[in-house]
Amino acid sequence: MTASHRHLLQIEGMHPPQIEMMLDLAESYVLLNRSGKTQRDLLRGRTLINLFFEDSTRTRTSFELAGKRLGADVINMSVSNSSVNKGETLLDTAATLNAMMCDLLVVRHAQSGAPNLLAQKVDAAVINAGDGTHEHPTQALLDALTIRRRKGRLQGLIVAICGDVLHSRVARSNIHLLSAMGAIVRVVGPKTLIPAECARLGVEVFHDMTKGIAGADVVMMLRLQRERMSGGLVPSAREYFRFYGLDFEKLGNAKKDAIIMHPGPMNRGVEIDSAVADDPVRSVIKEQVEMGVAVRMAVLDILSRESRRNV
Ligand code: NCD
Repeated sequence: MTASHRHLLQIEGMHPPQIEMMLDLAESYVLLNRSGKTQRDLLRGRTLINLFFEDSTRTRTSFELAGKRLGADVINMSVSNSSVNKGETLLDTAATLNAMMCDLLVVRHAQSGAPNLLAQKVDAAVINAGDGTHEHPTQALLDALTIRRRKGRLQGLIVAICGDVLHSRVARSNIHLLSAMGAIVRVVGPKTLIPAECARLGVEVFHDMTKGIAGADVVMMLRLQRERMSGGLVPSAREYFRFYGLDFEKLGNAKKDAIIMHPGPMNRGVEIDSAVADDPVRSVIKEQVEMGVAVRMAVLDILSRESRRNV
């Protein structure tokens, strides 16, 4: 995504300078947010619609706050996912949004590719807030910003992404971003939850968690996404925790200063032990939420530049 790109649909295909430019701008928004100031002139008179076909608390709120801090008029639309013909519903929605003259459209949808389809039909700049198992680009950007602030760089770091990689759009976006920025990416999980494409993506695959997080600088945990599983891909939650849940014992294999991440929502006691999640020094889970607002402000800023020029 550059100033000439109208949408943010995926990380795949983004170049390191574009990613760095986004992170640098987001960094300036972190400072602005911490200073308690706002920049409400930037998107004054602009309309941002949060179009969520799937439940969300943190991502939707984060985009809402980002839009409001920049002065946009923010509207939240939650649409039931049970509509009979999803294709037709999407196109109808696109026509409605065009009539409303929406400038920025944030979309979350259970089907991979839905934001891409909408982007072809609406006049607004489209931001993918998570589509099926495909991508969640702003999550990867906020994760990268969190890591960069803690570790000072991304290049050369060992990042272990652990758990339900198969169903995770967060994992996919992170793999693309971190690999592009020169980090060493590992995925760790049971065979049933690691997609075959991992080998093609150039990441190292581990089924033994102790080995998978050995020497890691960053341990990123993923939620067991049962709502996306068609069969019994995992044993009981208790057994899953025994082999793949992050506790202090397993964490002992990572670097001493390794940070712990989780995009939320967490299943405490399933993929992560509460004490680890709440560790005041090593867990950066709350920081990820803070970085989320700054990253989304940067994305809204950049994507609205094109249309601001035309005013
Ligand atoms: C993630 C999502 O929805 O993809 N959550 C989020 O955006 N913070 C991860 C998840 O649902 O497990």
